[in-house]
Amino acid sequence: MNNFEFYNPTRIVFGQGQISRLSTLIPEDANVMVLYGGESARKFGTLDEVEAALGDRKVSLFGGIEANPKYETMIKAVEQVKNEGTDYLLAVGGGSVVDGTKFVAAASLYDGEPLDILKTGGAKLKEAMPFGAVLTLSATGSEMNKVSVITYDAAQAKMAFISETVFPQFSILDPVKTFTLPPRQVGNGIVDAFVHVTEQYLTYPVNAKVQDRFAEGILQTLVEDGPKAMANPEDYEARSNLMWAATQALNGLIGTGVPQDWATHMIGHELTALYGLDHAQTLAVILPSLLEEKQQQKQAKLAQFAERVWGMTEGDDAEKATQAIIKTREFFESVGVKTRLGDYQLDATCIDPLVQHLTDHKMTHLGEHQDIDLDSSRRILNRSL
Ligand code: NZQ
Ligand code: ZN
Repeated sequence: MNNFEFYNPTRIVFGQGQISRLSTLIPEDANVMVLYGGESARKFGTLDEVEAALGDRKVSLFGGIEANPKYETMIKAVEQVKNEGTDYLLAVGGGSVVDGTKFVAAASLYDGEPLDILKTGGAKLKEAMPFGAVLTLSATGSEMNKVSVITYDAAQAKMAFISETVFPQFSILDPVKTFTLPPRQVGNGIVDAFVHVTEQYLTYPVNAKVQDRFAEGILQTLVEDGPKAMANPEDYEARSNLMWAATQALNGLIGTGVPQDWATHMIGHELTALYGLDHAQTLAVILPSLLEEKQQQKQAKLAQFAERVWGMTEGDDAEKATQAIIKTREFFESVGVKTRLGDYQLDATCIDPLVQHLTDHKMTHLGEHQDIDLDSSRRILNRSL
């Protein structure tokens, strides 16, 4: 196991009916801005519940945060924070709303040009406004991590920033809130969480037993309970397990002391920025091809994944690795997330622009060995056609 430091200060309040806890989680004299997405939070009553729990606190609203939140949108929220004298933020939504709120939290107290936060990846942040989250879509892990991904529309770029100043103070995870998700978003959430685990698990062995077995437990949970939630949206137990699995997949714990890959995410971000695929759709397209491309390098962990997650006992390591990649693709398809570029009306002509964007964004040494160069990325994209 490699050396590591682990820190995560986010309080998790989990379970049905827990939105009422906002009344004690947020200071009584706070001037709160509630941030949300399009229609869902209002339509399904979550905003009403939140406003009731906030009681007599001063509250303003900022709606309209889109999936893959834009810098251009979030900067308007920063203006509103200044105009309203806001001192506490509350995200109500999925990963996009939580990520957008992280940006507002950081930019509202930032001395320099807000775009620099994205250009420097958050490196210069010293403080951020305190904020919490009410999660309505389990997928990204943003509710318990220090990462935010913002789209800078003017440059067609998805830019991540990372800072300990943007850990949420708390996140409320009520699985009932996920009952209303459309099947596409349920599938997306399962795939995103799955790939967060594989990015930290399907690399090479360092004998990190706790991290490996925890990762395998999360993957098994997604494989077992994902289809249950797809078949019966109001299965509270399945929703609970999916929700906690997705949070654990990217709260830093399973990534401690182990090599990490993240190439699938980096290539995927370009697919969203250029062609508008959902985040999880890009991962479903790239991961199987990337695993094929890197099968030999990743063989030991792929064979372990085959045995422990897919229960395979037959064949040598190479055969197990091949079968595990096939199983992974089939699983993504089974939860309704297509795995070929062609399924999203893209053909070989998309590859040059994607490789150009990877070049522009210096994504030229990806993967746990930093050996996924532009030629490898091109081969991975070709395999994904
Ligand atoms: O906008 P509304 O009307 O609210 O609808 C949303 C949105 O259209 C809908 N939705 C959310 N909760 C719902 C619901 N519909 C019905 N019932 C509910 N309870 O779902 C749609 C998608 O929401 P979004 O927040 O975009 O999805 P997700 O949670 O998958 O977040 C994706 C974003 O997170 C980033 C992605 O890049 C993308 O921008 N990521 C953030 C990460 C992080 N911070 O650590 C890591 C991830 O790898 C990822 O990159
Ligand atoms: Zn992701």
